[in-house]
Amino acid sequence: MIVFFVTLLLSFSLFISDAKGIESNNNTDPDNAAIAGEQIFKEKCSVCHKTTEQQLVGPGLKGVMERRDEKWVDKWLENPAGVLKSGDKTAVELKKHFFRTMPTLPEMQEPVNRKKIIEFLKTLKEGGER
Ligand code: HEC
Repeated sequence: MIVFFVTLLLSFSLFISDAKGIESNNNTDPDNAAIAGEQIFKEKCSVCHKTTEQQLVGPGLKGVMERRDEKWVDKWLENPAGVLKSGDKTAVELKKHFFRTMPTLPEMQEPVNRKKIIEFLKTLKEGGER
């Protein structure tokens, strides 16, 4: 009987921590979002971008939120080719310096993921320690 209760209690607490995990994952509070954004960055962006000023396949992203408007970054992440096609000045200028065009990523079709990435990019401040 005791074993039964212990098992019940354990599975219940597991259930709670699971639910909490999901909740914090969708949390767009800036600090939490930046942490989640860093994870996405490592998985989806770091093959082409460094968090320093150093260029890789694409530009180094240090200070990017200081040189670009948040709305622009949001649009860019959602659909880089579309922004370029629209004749956007910044995109056209970038294109002159980079051989590849940034791909449209499925993860970036979710506004909440773009928000997380943007909060992370904001931590890559010009003159910051990263
Ligand atoms: C396959 C390589 C590749 C991947 C993956 C990639 N990018 Fe890019 N990114 C580029 C290139 C190349 C450019 C330069 C613009 C162009 O010509 O497309 C760029 C430009 C950018 C810019 C504009 C930089 C500036 O100086 O204005 C931002 C912001 C950016 N990428 C963020 C991201 C984020 C965030 C991810 C992950 C979700 C990502 N990129 C994934 C290649 C990539």
